[in-house]
Amino acid sequence: MELPAIDGGHPVRSEMLPFSPPDIGSAEIARVTGVLKSGWITRGGVCEEFENRISDFTGARFAHCLSSATAGLFLSLKIAGIGEGDEVITTPYTFASSVNVILHASAKPVLADVEEDGFQISPQAVASKVTPRTRAVIPVHFGGHPVDLDAVREISKRHDLLVVEDAAHAIGAEYRGKRLGDGKNPCVFSFHAVKNVTTAEGGCVVTNDEKLHKALRLYSLHGQTKDAYEKLSAGGWKYDIAVPGYKFNLTDLQAAVGVEQLKRVEAITKKREEIAERYTALLKEYDFVQTPSVKKGHRSSWHLYPLLIDFSRLSIDRDRFIAALAAENISANVHYIPVHLMSYYKKTFGYRPDDFPAAYSLFRREVSLPIYPQLSFDDVERVVEAIEKLFAHYR
Ligand SMILES: Cc1ncc(COP(=O)(O)O)c(C=O)c1O
Repeated sequence: MELPAIDGGHPVRSEMLPFSPPDIGSAEIARVTGVLKSGWITRGGVCEEFENRISDFTGARFAHCLSSATAGLFLSLKIAGIGEGDEVITTPYTFASSVNVILHASAKPVLADVEEDGFQISPQAVASKVTPRTRAVIPVHFGGHPVDLDAVREISKRHDLLVVEDAAHAIGAEYRGKRLGDGKNPCVFSFHAVKNVTTAEGGCVVTNDEKLHKALRLYSLHGQTKDAYEKLSAGGWKYDIAVPGYKFNLTDLQAAVGVEQLKRVEAITKKREEIAERYTALLKEYDFVQTPSVKKGHRSSWHLYPLLIDFSRLSIDRDRFIAALAAENISANVHYIPVHLMSYYKKTFGYRPDDFPAAYSLFRREVSLPIYPQLSFDDVERVVEAIEKLFAHYR
C-alpha cells in the first residue's frame, strides 16, 4: 500500500529512516577479520569465549550457543522428552517460532491469552489451560519487557511443568532487579540480525542444569561425543554418535560479532531506554495513545517500542497509518500478527480472531516505532513529528 506524503509531498525526512539496522562497529569487524585469518572459523574457542561471557552476564552457570533461538527452544523441549500426546502452553502474541517449535517436538501447542493491559502472557490464562497432558510453558518476554515470571514459575511448580523462557528479545532485561537468564530454568536468547545483540543469526540457551547443558552440546552437533575442535587434540580423532543429533551449532565467525556486541550491551540497553523515554515524553499527551511502560522493579531491554493507538479516534486505520508514515520516510512495523490469525494455525486448530481477545485487540492497535542505538534524538523527533502530522491530518 503506497500513500503520498501529506503537504503536497514534503516528507519529514528526505530519506527513509530504517526500522532496525544492525549496529556493527570497528571492534566487530576487527574481531571477525581476526577469526578469518586464524585458521579456524566454525565452532571453537570464540564460541566458548562468547558462552563464558553470556553466563557471566546473566549469572547462569552454563550457556550454550546455537544457530538460532528457534533451535534452543526446540532442543529444550526435545531434551526434556516432550513429544507426542503432550501439551505445551504459550502465548498467541509472539513470533511464530515460539509455537512452531512445539509442533517440531510433536507436541500440541495450547495458547493462553495475554494480559489486557500489556503484551505478556497472563498467568491466570496459563493456569486455566493446564490439563493432565500439559508438560511445559513457554512465556515470551515480548519486546524485552519481562513477563510475570514468579507467577508463571509458581503455576509450573504446582503442576510439575517445565518453564522454557523465550527471551529472544530480552538480553539485558531485568526481572525484580536481576538479569533474565538466572539459570533456574532454560532461558533462550536470539542473536538474529535485528536483535539487541546480534551474530547475524544465532541463539543461546542458559541454564544451571549441567545435564541439560551437556545434552545441548550433544544434540546440537549431530550427537557426536566430540566436536571438530575437540578432535584437534593429539589422538583426538575417535568419536562416537551417542544420539541422532541435529546441526544447530554457532560458528566462531558469528561468535566474534557476538563477543564484541556483548561487551557493549549495557550501553546498547541504556541508549534504547533513553529513546523509549523520549518517545513516551513526546507522545503521552494524546489520550488515544497508550505508550509502553515497564513495571516497577523490572528493566526492559527495549527491543521494541510498541505504541498502542485507538484508531477509532482517527479517520485512518492502522495499516494505512503505517503506509502514511512510510510516505513521510519513517519506517514502522507491527509486532506481531498473533499466531492464531496465521493460516496454518487457523486451519489446523480452528482458531477464530476472538478466541484470544486481548491479543487480537492489541494487534489492531499496535504500531512499533524504530528503536536502536544508532538512532539520534533528532531522528526520534522526526518520527514523532511525522506521527503528529498524521494525527492532525486524520483527526
Ligand atoms: C519472540 C521470538 N521468539 C523466537 C524467535 C526466534 O529467534 P531466531 O530467529 O533466533 O530463531 C524470535 C525471532 O524473531 C522471536 O521474535
